Amino acid sequence: MPSSTPEPEAALQRLQKVLASTGIGGRRPAEALIAAGRVTVDGVVATLGTKVYPARSLIAVDGRPIRFDSRAGEPAHAVTLALNKPLGVVVTASDDRGRSTVYDVVRLAIGAIPPGLRYVGRLDRDTTGLLLFTTDGARAHRLTHPSYHVDRVYEAIVEGELTDEGLTRLRRGVELEDGLTAPADVARLASGVVRITIHEGRTRQVRRMFEAVGSRVRRLRRVAVGPVRLGDLREGAVRPLTDQEERALRRRAGLEDA
Ligand code: URA
Repeated sequence: MPSSTPEPEAALQRLQKVLASTGIGGRRPAEALIAAGRVTVDGVVATLGTKVYPARSLIAVDGRPIRFDSRAGEPAHAVTLALNKPLGVVVTASDDRGRSTVYDVVRLAIGAIPPGLRYVGRLDRDTTGLLLFTTDGARAHRLTHPSYHVDRVYEAIVEGELTDEGLTRLRRGVELEDGLTAPADVARLASGVVRITIHEGRTRQVRRMFEAVGSRVRRLRRVAVGPVRLGDLREGAVRPLTDQEERALRRRAGLEDA
């Protein structure tokens, strides 16, 4: 559009709607940022009544511009990253005991934390493997909520006797103190090595499931979340999703029409 042509009034949108769609976690966080005076539009501090042209207004949070694809007038794609979480690292934003957190690992790997980046679900400090991060609140919700049935695949090295009957009980669901677990896919890969696929994310669930059938998990590694696989990503390394994973995740997490 030539610069002399006025923008059509219909292209104006409420700032909080536009901001919410950039993956900062939805409408409420967007409104809170605006109310706190942290958002500017074309250099002017915005209010909750501010309207913007998504394709050309310069929106910034804490002085950092939010990027848009100016051709489509759409928000730039949210960032989703995969980390191979090392042993001993805590999944938290900050640890009051000064232990290394997953954000320390991401910062070390890629030099900075993209604004709004949050981990998706949790892994225990003593679990390694695939941890996803995203700036897209809707995606994070759909990947973690059990109703979306997103598979999490773990490989466990277990000690103690694990009988075929124990494996069958794990498959059918075991009674834990917070209720019966949903049916799981379970395969013995070698003696003492089991692959288990669940779609719930209860605290220490896999460890507690094995305890319920009389064995103990010595090492636990997550190797896949939905269509995203850990593959040969080395411990402490971070990578963006491939286009194929992006598409599969959208389909899997029902985000095509979100
Ligand atoms: N189940 C566990 O017991 N621990 C994890 O970190 C993840 C699933």
